[in-house]
Amino acid sequence: MTIRTALTEKFGLEYPIVSAPMGSVAGGRLAAAVSNAGALGLVGGGYGDSEWLHTELSTARSETTRPWGVGLITWHATHEILELALSYEPPAFMLSFGDPRPFVRAIKEAGCTLICQVQDVEDGRAAKAAGADIIVAQGTEAGGHGADRSTLPLVPAVVDAVAPTPVLAAGGIADGRGLAAALMLGAAGALIGTRFYAAIEALGHESAKEYIVAAKGRDTERTRVFDVVRQHAWPRPYTGRAIRNRFMERWGRREDDLSEALEEEIPRFRAAVRDGDFETAMIWAGEAVDLILDVAPAGELVRRIGAETEACLQHASELLRKT
Ligand SMILES: Cc1cc2nc3c(=O)[nH]c(=O)nc-3n(C[C@H](O)[C@H](O)[C@H](O)COP(=O)(O)O)c2cc1C
Repeated sequence: MTIRTALTEKFGLEYPIVSAPMGSVAGGRLAAAVSNAGALGLVGGGYGDSEWLHTELSTARSETTRPWGVGLITWHATHEILELALSYEPPAFMLSFGDPRPFVRAIKEAGCTLICQVQDVEDGRAAKAAGADIIVAQGTEAGGHGADRSTLPLVPAVVDAVAPTPVLAAGGIADGRGLAAALMLGAAGALIGTRFYAAIEALGHESAKEYIVAAKGRDTERTRVFDVVRQHAWPRPYTGRAIRNRFMERWGRREDDLSEALEEEIPRFRAAVRDGDFETAMIWAGEAVDLILDVAPAGELVRRIGAETEACLQHASELLRKT
């Protein structure tokens, strides 16, 4: 038995799963491993470091013959970075956080499927009007940047607002139970981030993956402190969900004080990032860390979540009884 949705049909996938374009975590190896396992892997282009993109996009393109894609942070994107990414001919292109309109034409002309991630119903309608082929409804449970709506009520509201455009659910999904629930909400699949951070192929410090395995959902929190210290001018309403650490405890709700102390704090923070000191550097992670108990190969995770989803759907249909 296989699950068929508008997402699997569009890309010829075996599972309705997309791995999130996690900036500096989702490199070419992770994206290719996810795609090779029958899902859709996305490279996390993040803020658009061109050297990083060249390396990771050529890896993705050479390590899979199946559909894959790349994502950029919309408010920070430039036409130059967009052209660089398009030159690797990704079948899918994802834009998150901001108005996609300046980039839609180039993406469509390159023949890419455009995926737009949104955090509210109105932004979903706007993404559809701009030409999105697939819309991701991202709830506040998500790891990394996002906003304040919860996945459970947001997804069906976006599904209704943008029909018949396919919607993916994101935020808080880390196993087949979450994916099956997303399908019940009317989604055509799930975009999953944090679970794939704890994959062997994900980039970044191995100890960050161990933090994710050890953390509980309650240990994660939305914050702006890492944007302030990195001097990334994220517009409202975006904040980032990370595993709470000493840096967050020290500066949380004191962002103005942090802005005053940047001369001292920036070098300290950069050293912590370089050394993998996660009491200062951030680990973006979502509330679903409760469900993440191992670091495993990405392909195994795809197959595991896929099999769990099929079992859940089977079980759900068995709940129905003729009286
Ligand atoms: C480590 C990390 C980095 C992320 N970076 C990005 C990014 O650069 N661009 C983006 O569109 N989304 C990014 N996200 C958010 C994901 O696209 C997605 O919405 C989220 O991971 C889904 O929730 P989950 O983490 O509970 O699976 C990131 C998420 C994580 C965990």
